[in-house]
Amino acid sequence: MNEIWDKVYSNDSTFFGEEPSNFSQMCYKDFKKHHVNKLLELGCGQGRDTLFFASLDLDVYAIDSSKVAIESLKQKIGEQNITIKLRQFDASQGIPFDKKYFDAVYSHMFYNMRFTDVELSFLFKESSRVLKNDGLLYFSVRSDNDVLYNKGKKIDNNIYEINGFQIRFFTKEQIESFLVNHFEIKDIEECYEVPVSLYLVFCYKK
Ligand SMILES: C[S@@+](CC[C@H](N)C(=O)[O-])C[C@H]1O[C@@H](n2cnc3c(N)ncnc32)[C@H](O)[C@@H]1O
Repeated sequence: MNEIWDKVYSNDSTFFGEEPSNFSQMCYKDFKKHHVNKLLELGCGQGRDTLFFASLDLDVYAIDSSKVAIESLKQKIGEQNITIKLRQFDASQGIPFDKKYFDAVYSHMFYNMRFTDVELSFLFKESSRVLKNDGLLYFSVRSDNDVLYNKGKKIDNNIYEINGFQIRFFTKEQIESFLVNHFEIKDIEECYEVPVSLYLVFCYKK
């Protein structure tokens, strides 16, 4: 189901490093302001941010379609005194939780996977469905300022194959158009997190 990521994670048990991302640390400060407790992470990978959130006493749920990622994260959880509700799941099929279940949905470089426009619209609709009425959505995506934007083999609109990865890049306008039906944007910041240029997006459920 997720051959490329299974292969990447099999070859490197800390592909994105072990430290939490800067984005997760920024979001955590905002979680505190908004009394976020029940959190869902989409595309958690090997769990650098998932473990960070769980170590700070948030009630963390996480999904990823890579079996290897989920197995390796389960092993890390077993070695620490923390709880994370993990599930191997392909989010393009929907988000496998009840409506209004979470205070916040978080993801780092997840929506820029190779999703079609239809799948992305569905994913944002699903993200809204599982959020409580005053819920928050936090995500980062590769931006049109990224050094690899417009490079590699074009697969579809804004999707390029680069070194075996199929990556979608976003303009600010595209982010806004995907969110307009379900979310109100609080802020979009630009940031460089070696080696990628990102938009960091903070929104409220409408
Ligand atoms: C760029 S990685 C980011 C991993 C993690 N967020 C981090 O920053 O360390 C994207 C992750 O999304 C997962 N993924 C890709 N397509 C998915 C899908 N359809 N459903 C769930 N997870 C998916 C991949 O397995 C991978 O772990």
